[in-house]
Amino acid sequence: MEAAFVLLHLFMVTTPTYFFESSEQLAAHLLEKIEARKVFVLTDENVHQHCLSRLLESFETEPEIEIIEVEAGETSKSIQIYEHICEHLAECGAGKDDLLLCLGGGMITDLGGFIGSTFKRGMNFIHIPTSLLGMVDAANGGKNGINLGVVKNAIGIIKSPSEILIYPGFIETLPDVELQSGFAEMIKHGIIAGNEYWQRISEVNQISSASVAPLIEGAVSIKDSITAIDPFESGPRKKLNFGHSIGHAIESHFLAINQIMSHGQAVAFGMICEIMIAQQMSLIDQEEAKRILQLILAWYHPEQFDLPEYDQIKGYLSQDKKNNGKELRMSLPTAIGHIEYNISVGSETAKSCYEHLTKYNRTDQTSTIDYLVSTI
Ligand SMILES: NC(=O)c1ccc[n+]([C@@H]2O[C@H](COP(=O)([O-])OP(=O)(O)OC[C@H]3O[C@@H](n4cnc5c(N)ncnc54)[C@H](O)[C@@H]3O)[C@@H](O)[C@H]2O)c1
Repeated sequence: MEAAFVLLHLFMVTTPTYFFESSEQLAAHLLEKIEARKVFVLTDENVHQHCLSRLLESFETEPEIEIIEVEAGETSKSIQIYEHICEHLAECGAGKDDLLLCLGGGMITDLGGFIGSTFKRGMNFIHIPTSLLGMVDAANGGKNGINLGVVKNAIGIIKSPSEILIYPGFIETLPDVELQSGFAEMIKHGIIAGNEYWQRISEVNQISSASVAPLIEGAVSIKDSITAIDPFESGPRKKLNFGHSIGHAIESHFLAINQIMSHGQAVAFGMICEIMIAQQMSLIDQEEAKRILQLILAWYHPEQFDLPEYDQIKGYLSQDKKNNGKELRMSLPTAIGHIEYNISVGSETAKSCYEHLTKYNRTDQTSTIDYLVSTI
């Protein structure tokens, strides 16, 4: 099986990803792409204010573009907004050869990527991620899609943009909570890759745009190296789902009750719970589990959130795309640098670990890590 992936790797190319040191460099690169084409820019109001304005000022002569702005937030990743934008593109006479620039965080690249992949059976699209999470994760790997009601990413397709353009300077205007959200996916990449990247992530002592920007390229190359060998997630790509079974279920719950929980925050709590599950199943030894938990708990504090009851997330958990019928399947760490995927997890194990985590929230525990790894 591994050999097949290695063979496949020989024929796979990752999406060209360019890094820029200034918005002027990015504008100059874009100018070459947008000549003699209709160009649409999909963005949200925050990104419009902070990034699109800055980008437009960086062009020597302002290009002719049609701006499509949606409301910021996860609720824009919906069938209704998807339909509305496709109608708008059709009214504007957009064709397959015209260009859609997806300028924004993961919400915009997921939604825009889905539009770009499906409108007229696919039009040209380029991702320009502006959030940390977008740069290190959402814009790469070709996954895009929309939510079905509150069920995350239930409709989608895997198709890569023609290019990914990353200007790390955009994250300077990102609110702290969003920096923290993106950092969770960087920790995940560190756990998956181990070695040097784990070390570099462990040495961060403040989450700021200046401290995380130098780590963006490393995160992108870790994700690229995995998606290149398994673009359609039949095997090793599932490693990237670590933390997302429980994480998506928590995120869906908050979406359903109209409260905001950032994607990264939910994934951080998902990773904590899934490490507990791995330990409960004797897949990881206690000391290694503690090392990982120590890093996550330095930045993410489940006790500060009113996490839902297991009964409130189990419906979402059962809809997870990784499951096999009714059987829960997760990607779990066995050590730093090693994730096993397609692990069958009994619903009683998932329930008891999750409840152990939420009980911690509701009692005054002194040592978080010891409590989390204690026998359940
Ligand atoms: N396709 C994938 O592989 C993949 C991977 C991970 C996450 N995702 C998806 O990504 C989404 C989360 O991404 P996100 O956290 O970037 O969310 P987001 O796009 O909603 O952005 C978060 C917030 O930051 C604002 N913002 C973005 N860039 C900014 C900037 N430079 N300055 C100021 N504000 C800015 C946005 O307006 C928004 O309010 C979720 O929908 C998640 O499911 C997809």
